[in-house]
Amino acid sequence: MAVLTVRKYGDPILRRRAEPVGEVTPEIRAILRDMIDTMYREVGVGLAAPQVGISLRLMVVDDEKGRGPRALVNPEIVDQGGRVVAEEGCLSIPGIFAPVARAEWVRLEAQDEEGQPVTVETKGLYARVIQHEMDHLDGVLFIDRLDAVRRDRVKRAIKKEGLREDAPHSALAL
Ligand code: NI
Repeated sequence: MAVLTVRKYGDPILRRRAEPVGEVTPEIRAILRDMIDTMYREVGVGLAAPQVGISLRLMVVDDEKGRGPRALVNPEIVDQGGRVVAEEGCLSIPGIFAPVARAEWVRLEAQDEEGQPVTVETKGLYARVIQHEMDHLDGVLFIDRLDAVRRDRVKRAIKKEGLREDAPHSALAL
């Protein structure tokens, strides 16, 4: 069990496309467990491996129905639909929150921590979390999805004031 350091905006690993996982080894399972510990410690509802400095296609999400954390390996969104705008934050960009448009529902295929194929079909917050973490695996941050005016405002604010490392956590920090 270990809590890992969350990489912050400006760290180049957050901009890299993460590599697929070949086989779900004990080492991969250990990373997933550490990611779950880190997600809960940071009071997040989702976390992608690049956020803890590991450029692999791994994510953990807090289950929508309180059934505990879920680990997803090599996740892929295979279908999606609808559109909904809601406020998001990111553990890697503390103190910044902004409304982001996302698909309303997604269907995702992945492997679980045993390497078994799983399909997840979900909507609402859980679908939003999954899309946000998928973006992390592709080097995309939620502020990239804001309209140009808002994005520039956020980037200027970060440049001027830096990240608010002591910013209060939000239930929507992903
Ligand atoms: Ni994030």
